[in-house]
This record gives sequence, structure tokens and C-alpha cells, in this order.
Amino acid sequence: MSKAPTRLWGGRFEGGPSDALARLSVSVQFDWRLAPYDLMGSRAHARVLNRAGLLDDDELTRMLDAIDDLEQACASGEFRPTVADEDVHTALERGLLERLGSLGGKLRAGRSRNDQVATDLRLYLRDHVRRIVSRLVELQTSLIGQAEANMGVACPGMTHLQHAQPVLFSHQLLAHVHAISRDIERFQDWDKRAAISPLGSGALAGSSLPLDPQAVAEELGFTAAAANSMDAVSDRDFVAEFLFAAALTGVHLSRLGEEVCLWASQEFRWIEMDDTYATGSSIMPQKKNPDVAELARGKAGRIIGALVGLLTTLKGLPLTYNRDLQEDKEGAFDAVETLLLVLPAVSGLIATMRVNTERMEELAPQGFALATDLAELLVRRGVVFRDAHEVVGHLVVWCQVNDKDFGDLTDEELAKVSPHLTPDVREVLNVPGAIASRKAHGGTAPERVQEQIENLRASSDAAASWASES
Ligand code: ARG
Repeated sequence: MSKAPTRLWGGRFEGGPSDALARLSVSVQFDWRLAPYDLMGSRAHARVLNRAGLLDDDELTRMLDAIDDLEQACASGEFRPTVADEDVHTALERGLLERLGSLGGKLRAGRSRNDQVATDLRLYLRDHVRRIVSRLVELQTSLIGQAEANMGVACPGMTHLQHAQPVLFSHQLLAHVHAISRDIERFQDWDKRAAISPLGSGALAGSSLPLDPQAVAEELGFTAAAANSMDAVSDRDFVAEFLFAAALTGVHLSRLGEEVCLWASQEFRWIEMDDTYATGSSIMPQKKNPDVAELARGKAGRIIGALVGLLTTLKGLPLTYNRDLQEDKEGAFDAVETLLLVLPAVSGLIATMRVNTERMEELAPQGFALATDLAELLVRRGVVFRDAHEVVGHLVVWCQVNDKDFGDLTDEELAKVSPHLTPDVREVLNVPGAIASRKAHGGTAPERVQEQIENLRASSDAAASWASES
């Protein structure tokens, strides 16, 4: 006969839960990820109970040894949750009871699963945010590396996915790096608000035992203990905010992914993906598909879904803890795991892609992309911008009708469209000149792009230290 399952709330109940309730209620299959963090909390709590005189020194030593032993057994897989464990807290209490007998039951004094689970999830997310930031830094390094290696290469800059003005390809790559920098800052900001410890709040009202929530907070790396126990056990802002930062990161990866899909297409041919980051087709032997980029694009959907799902769960919940809150975890875990899965693949894809510089340079002026430069030259010569715009517009139409590009025009043809179009306007009708002229702050001129590379490298290095040290 098997032993009765460990339950944390059996006292007032005559029978065990129905199968249907047990199946609905169980969360250990996903919240087992919190085990290392729950054990960290248990260690801190044991010390506080000792200082409060609720656990003598010998009991504390035995408790800490048992926690260490259980931690190792969890890490090696020797101790695992069973189907009878309702959640991670139940499974770990069973582990302590197996090691300590009734002493294992002392740790629950002054603590509830409500403050425990909120603490565990904060610890888990704060730890994983650092891993995510490290992976984001690697992606920045890949993008900056390509920006540096291809410095000076022009490409068509687009609006509405139409050729607009030529830009440096590096400028475009760095635009993605800036977006990722904001993602990193958002995670770092989030971390400051998430660094509040709910432990000590008990079920909802705090504890009558002389515990020391501030000491526990400090031991667990939090900046302070929560000031209001009711808020502490019911607040899931930190999950929602994390999911927003994760979802926006996912959106940024999806935009980069979409660009890579375009760049690798037959129509663009801006880049060639390395074989190690591309896939083939089971039927079409010639295919090389951008699956990494597509999955980066596609997986944003599930993170956005997790954010919307959680906000919907939280909306209208009365204070304080409600079991609905158990629904906070799967989406958060999935968002973390999705980012940690996608980011290394995207970094590798970017780092190894080969840039088809000749093709880009050839495309850069196409589609009358130098029209704005021509109009601005006329403005510098005193023509009202409205008129300059009109003149160049006419020139474009004339070229289209006569199947010509700006470069093919004779002096007579230019003069026919407008007296302003003297032969020397040709001086601005070249891509390097157009790019070099955009040297105001934030522009695509090589010196501005070089500055960005330096600044972004510095902020990326700072983020790497934050992730590894804090
Ligand atoms: N598994 C629960 C959760 O994730 C733990 C807290 C349970 N608390 C309770 N009062 N039933 O939220």
C-alpha cells in the first residue's frame, strides 16, 4: 500500500479531493521550475525562525543540511515531484519530512504558500531576466559586428517597403540594436520594481510571530520587504510588466526576423544565410529557407498571448490571494523559455549571414531614391521647397515615361523639365554623396554611424556586466 500523499491543508477535511479537483488544481508539472527559488526562501526563513527562537540552533543546522541535501537531490533528479504533490511547495515539504521527520513541518510557521509563491516567482523572473539580457547583448554583438564589417555599404532605405532614400546598411542594422537596448533598459527598470520581497506577509495579513521580513528580503537579494501584506500576496504587476517587456522584445525580434526573410529572398538578395542557420525543403531541392527568422517572427505571438492572458486573469480580481493567480506562471515560464530559445538562434543567424554588398550598392539608387537630394540641392540654391518638390516630381514622371534613370539624362533633357535643373545638379545624384550629406545628429552619414557603433558597444558592455554581476 502506498503512503498517504503529503497535503498542506488536510486537517479539516474528512476525505481526499476528488480526482477531478486534484487534476484541476495540480500545478507541480509547471511550478517545479520554482524549486531552487523555493529552497532559497526556505533557507532564509529557517534562519529567521531561529533568530525568533522558534527553531533552536541544532534544529537550524539540521534544517539547513536537509535543505542542501534536498537541493542536490532536486538538481540531480533523484528527488522528483509525484502526481500526488499538489504544487512545488507540497513536494518540497514532503522532501523535508522524508529527511527530517516532524522537524520538517516546523518551517511552515509564519509562512503561507501565498507569500511563498509570490516570492518564488519574483526570484525566478529576476534570475531569468539576467539570462535574457545576456542573450540580448549577444544579439547586439552580432548586429554591431555586421554593422562594422559592412561599414560604408549602401542599401535602399525604405518607407512603405518602397525605395525611399539610400542609407548605410550599418545604419539599418544599428536601428535594431537601439530597439534591443531599450528592451534591456526596460528589463533593468522592471528589476528595480520587482525587487520587493513578499515573504513575511503570510496568507494575507502578516505574521504574529516575531519574524524579520527585512532580513529575509536582504538575504534573498531584494531591496526591501513589502510594506503591505495584502498587496504583497495579490500583486502580480511584476509578472504583467515582465510579460510586456518580453512581448515587446518578441515584437522587435519579429521585425528583425521579417527583415531577414525579405533580405534573403530572391527578390532582394541582400544577404545569404549560412547553411547552419537555414533549412531545406523536403520536396524542392533548391530551397534554402529562413526558418530561424520565421520562428523569431512567429513566436512573438505566444508571448503577446501570455501578456493578454494574464491581464485578463488579473482584471477584476478582488483582494487578496485567489486561486486564479496560479494562472500567472505558465505564460511567464513560456515567455522566458521562448526568448531563451529564440535569441541564440537569431544571434547566430545574424553573425553568420553573408552580405551581398554589390547587389545592395546596385539597388541603393534605384527607384529614384536620390530625388530628395536633388530637391534639397535646389532648396540650397534658393528654390522654395514646394516648387523644388514639384520640379523633381516632374522629372521622375518624365524618366518613367521615357524609361530612363536620373543618371541617363542629358543636359537638354534636364533643362526641358525645369530651368533649375542645370548640368551641375548631377553632383548630388550619387549615393555616397547623398549618404555623406546626412551628417546631422542621428543621420546615416558614416561618421554618425561610427559614433553609434561606439556608443552602442559601451551600453551593451554595461548591460553584460549588469547581467553577470547583479
Ligand atoms: N499553486 C498555488 C499558486 O500557484 C500556490 C498558492 C496556493 N495557495 C492557496 N491558498 N491555495 O498560486
